[in-house]
Amino acid sequence: LWQNVPLAPPDSIFKLTAAYKADTFEQKINLGVGAYRDDNDKPWVLPVVRKAEEIILNSVALDHEYLPITGLPEFTVAAAKLILGSDSTALSQGRVTSVQTISGTGANHLGALFLSRFYQFAENKEIYLSDPTWANHPAIFNNVGIAPVYYPYYDPKTIGLNYDGFISSLKSAPSGSIFLIHACAHNPTGVDPTREQWGAIADIMLEKEHYGFFDCAYQGFASGDLDNDAWAVRFFVDKGVKMLVCQSFAKNAGLYGERVGALHIVSPTKEAAERVKSQLSVLQRSEISNPPTYGARIVTLILNNTSLFSEWKRDISTMAGRIIDMRKELHKILTEELHTPGNWDHIVNQIGMFSFTGITPEQSKALTEKAHIYLTVNGRISMTGLNRNNIRYFATSLDAAVRG
Ligand code: LMR
Repeated sequence: LWQNVPLAPPDSIFKLTAAYKADTFEQKINLGVGAYRDDNDKPWVLPVVRKAEEIILNSVALDHEYLPITGLPEFTVAAAKLILGSDSTALSQGRVTSVQTISGTGANHLGALFLSRFYQFAENKEIYLSDPTWANHPAIFNNVGIAPVYYPYYDPKTIGLNYDGFISSLKSAPSGSIFLIHACAHNPTGVDPTREQWGAIADIMLEKEHYGFFDCAYQGFASGDLDNDAWAVRFFVDKGVKMLVCQSFAKNAGLYGERVGALHIVSPTKEAAERVKSQLSVLQRSEISNPPTYGARIVTLILNNTSLFSEWKRDISTMAGRIIDMRKELHKILTEELHTPGNWDHIVNQIGMFSFTGITPEQSKALTEKAHIYLTVNGRISMTGLNRNNIRYFATSLDAAVRG
């Protein structure tokens, strides 16, 4: 039995965590997975999450019954307002279907599955992904029979956005193509379009009737401001671009393992939104029956209580602020102290959890093999793995790798 099952390679991101844990070298650093660490390299349970957990623990009214198939209603309503804005016209018109999902990955999967069943594909059953993108995106779409194709996004020469390439791909794709768009803090590059560029992208998407598959895993992490990071999503919805958005609370609430997220599909009418909801319920039922309660309860409390919400915003600023400080510090050490060859301004210009260093796969491997620094071979580093104690070791190791 299973003679025909080939051995699959380990996951490109999570294998780094395993290798890091097994490494006994004292100065080892994990810059692989995008998971926040405090200045002592420890996972950080947000103080506001602790408070919400206490409320839940002390609540005798809570039981362990099933949630509705589409999730905790108070959660999905509040989550939709958080991403689309409390003044969203689409929301007030009842045109948005929101379903609680197994974090952002589950939202991506459910959205992909729904499109694979019901979207009228332009020519081929395919989705345009940014080149590069999160390593899991192609696998998620392949799983439901939608073939990934790529649009240019990153320009290695400028270590910035390949704006012209992106625009010409939008223009040349068959009308009605689906484009996956990172809503903010692009993973893995940390490079986002400017507001002016978003405007041009939206205009072409409208003109060509493309469908926007927005993935928003880092609301709050890019700028430290929840509204600012939701700007592109709200702009595209208001413009009338056909779209859905995947939302995750893994990073911004530090609820990685609780798997709390949502899928929001914007429809042209309330009546269409109801039909969409009926089909999402059928799909969700066959896959997970009902989403889990714990993380959704925590987020619901935070989103619906004014004082907890303010506290959450402060916690988000703490995380985003520490990442920004690390960017400045790394840039300073490389440019002012070590005079590392090359331009390192992208370290401070990129935003969010990740920085795309621009180093080669060989240099990246050398960092792992010689310096015990774990990062994906594409040169992406999770900025949260850096702190006051290890940043100098990282900078000198990077300097050595670049010099060869
Ligand atoms: C990452 O890209 O490191 C994170 O989004 C974690 C994951 O699931 O890959």
